[in-house]
Amino acid sequence: MTSGPTHMRSVVAGIGSFLPARKVSNADLEKMVDTTDDWIVQRTGIRNRHIAGEGETTSVLATHAANAALADAGLTGNDIDLLIVATSTPDYTFPSTATQVQAAIGMLHGAAFDVQAVCSGFVFAMATADKFLMSGSHRRALVIGAETFSRLLDWNDRTTCVLFGDGAGAVVLEAREGAGTIKDRGMLTTHLRSDGRHREKLYVDGGPSTTGTVGHLRMSGRDVFRHAVSMVTDVMVDAFAATGTTAEDLDWFVPHQANRRIIDASAEKLGIAPGKIVVTVDQHGNTSAASIPLALCAAVKDGRIKAGDLVMIEAMGGGFTWGSALIRW
Ligand code: ACO
Repeated sequence: MTSGPTHMRSVVAGIGSFLPARKVSNADLEKMVDTTDDWIVQRTGIRNRHIAGEGETTSVLATHAANAALADAGLTGNDIDLLIVATSTPDYTFPSTATQVQAAIGMLHGAAFDVQAVCSGFVFAMATADKFLMSGSHRRALVIGAETFSRLLDWNDRTTCVLFGDGAGAVVLEAREGAGTIKDRGMLTTHLRSDGRHREKLYVDGGPSTTGTVGHLRMSGRDVFRHAVSMVTDVMVDAFAATGTTAEDLDWFVPHQANRRIIDASAEKLGIAPGKIVVTVDQHGNTSAASIPLALCAAVKDGRIKAGDLVMIEAMGGGFTWGSALIRW
């Protein structure tokens, strides 16, 4: 077998996740805003979410998930030379949350930085890490999606506050030589898109350079819903075309967990069998960049996703941003 950058694959070597202890059910929310369990379940499929407590910042959640992923891979922080955190809820405006995690896990070399693509952040971070590993410049990446969206929410706005939750998930990616076929383990293809014309549909109404405040999440739910299915199915079709695979070849479909109706409609449009869909939105709500690694971790730990399985991840989020990655686990 020849060696060379074109045959390097980013193989998942470990996974971990972390959820804050505090669980908030729809019944709990009924006491806070004018909503009902029925409305939330019917419109979104969400039943529970976890909310970070005092001192549980994004970097704290991320560090727990990172340590779990490192333990799963049998590695320590210093075995990692690239650390990327996908988040839109950093501890501070700067430095990056990634550098906080880097210090916390005892990683004393390499590079750490944040990626901001809102709910698509984990897919963007995985694609970024994949490019670094494929180029041969780095050997092992820790890719983390971590969010404390509860701190961006307007808790008086029932149209948004019932939808989101907090959490973190992490994967270790390791550069290993493959044969260059879709039978290789690792990331097989990634497809990222964005269209900045859609800001008003999903945004935070504050920031350092505008209001000087953190701001609150604002969303036109119907507009987001209308775009979501076509955007995420487009990038999945791109992934199938790039690899010569079809929906039938997938073992698991692990979408961004925003809304059960978007997930089911996307799967149906592409002919992905319902039994292949990993769903955690019922228990986690929408945890933005954390949702995919949280769902992946749940499905790995309960034995559904196994080495060699073909797994599609995809997401769509504010910007708009959207993307997909096809991974041989
Ligand atoms: N409880 C009870 N009633 C509510 C609530 C609530 N929490 N929120 C809104 N309503 C009411 C509205 O006020 C409205 O009442 P009206 O008809 O008297 O005016 C009614 O319910 C319907 O409101 P819509 O916004 O039209 O409801 P819709 O069926 O579109 O569902 C939802 C709203 C769930 C937000 C849906 O549009 C959606 O899922 N959109 C996608 C949002 C999403 O997934 N965003 C995240 C993706 S990107 C990312 O992850 C950051």
